[in-house]
Amino acid sequence: MQDDFFKYQAQTTPHPLAMEVSHAKGSYIFDKKGKAYLDFVAGVSACSLGHSHPKVVEAIKSQADQYLHVMVYGEYIQEPTLELTKLIAKHLPAPLETTYLVNSGTEAIEGSIKLARRYTGRTEIIAAKNSYHGNTMGSLSLMDYEERKAPFLPLIPDIKHIRFNSEADLKHITTKTAAVILETIQGGAGFIEPQNNYLQKVQQRCNEVGAVFILDEIQPGIGRTGKLFGFENYNCQPDIVVTGKGLGGGLPIGAFTASNDMMQTLSDNPKLGHITTFGGNPVIAAAALATLKEVIESNLMPEALEKEQIIRTHLNHKHIKEIRGKGLMLAAIVDHPDITNHVILKAQDEGLILFWLLFEPKAIRITPPLTISNEEIIKGCKVITSILDKL
Ligand SMILES: Cc1ncc(COP(=O)(O)O)c(C=O)c1O
Repeated sequence: MQDDFFKYQAQTTPHPLAMEVSHAKGSYIFDKKGKAYLDFVAGVSACSLGHSHPKVVEAIKSQADQYLHVMVYGEYIQEPTLELTKLIAKHLPAPLETTYLVNSGTEAIEGSIKLARRYTGRTEIIAAKNSYHGNTMGSLSLMDYEERKAPFLPLIPDIKHIRFNSEADLKHITTKTAAVILETIQGGAGFIEPQNNYLQKVQQRCNEVGAVFILDEIQPGIGRTGKLFGFENYNCQPDIVVTGKGLGGGLPIGAFTASNDMMQTLSDNPKLGHITTFGGNPVIAAAALATLKEVIESNLMPEALEKEQIIRTHLNHKHIKEIRGKGLMLAAIVDHPDITNHVILKAQDEGLILFWLLFEPKAIRITPPLTISNEEIIKGCKVITSILDKL
């Protein structure tokens, strides 16, 4: 399988981990040799309920028995799709009530910036330095990492960057700005939380100049920070909220939610302002609905904060300088990138899955499923500290 993997499947890095997956259940992934790996990454924050959660699997199976794909998005009324959008609306503050479902996080970002341009009639989009919003051309344009953008230029014009958490930079948001788009917690940058009511101040500035405030909740959203949406921790409210990853419970999804009034602008003059064949697919919507219900109805959200404390307590080590983030969106910051690489690779040998962050080479990603048990957390932390002990 290794040779075929390198030959037939497109690669994203020269050195993929190339584990041969047999199956996955709960907090564990099993390889073809029967070795179990405790998963501290959860498919990069996507498997919020762990692997193959019975309620998600049951929802997929029962929807598959009814119908699969029937029509391009937005034409027919499909119950799981409708119920999912209603449940999202129920748990968002007014006027955020209308959701457009798409196929991935990056497509939801594309949709949100199109919506902001269409709604305001302006073109300028302001994003934060060190942000990550996805990899299609529009989302990539929002990145300020020149080295990664350079081979793909020219990207979409009229994008400006401000420093995350800099109040001084808010003056760059003006009446020319269509939208300011920020991650609620900066992921790739190293799980940087907003400070001193920063997001609230951005919201106020957007209100003053008539710009749309977009929050990318693709990683922090759906319970990972102890609240259903990360912004609930920071005293603010966006005009468009973008979700993905953990919403699908392991299936591919993206969503952007705005007021009904704002969202209407995508369907008219011109009509079909955003279209997608498979967005809102009923099987994926059924999986997402089951996931969302479970996150809302269980104790997983308050428990995420208790689990954060367990991780902080058990990762108290001289080589860990800091633990950043909130809930189960955490990054252990070590002294040197070589230590990050060593710990991640050695941990995999020892049956623990860890991963890197995009732009912070000293960070070790810790984003386990919300369903991970306290015992599993302690077990995983011991693997990390024993590797660090031997340095
Ligand atoms: C904050 C954030 N935005 C957008 C994306 C892109 O989502 P996707 O990979 O589903 O396109 C990601 C994925 O890592 C992300 O973390």
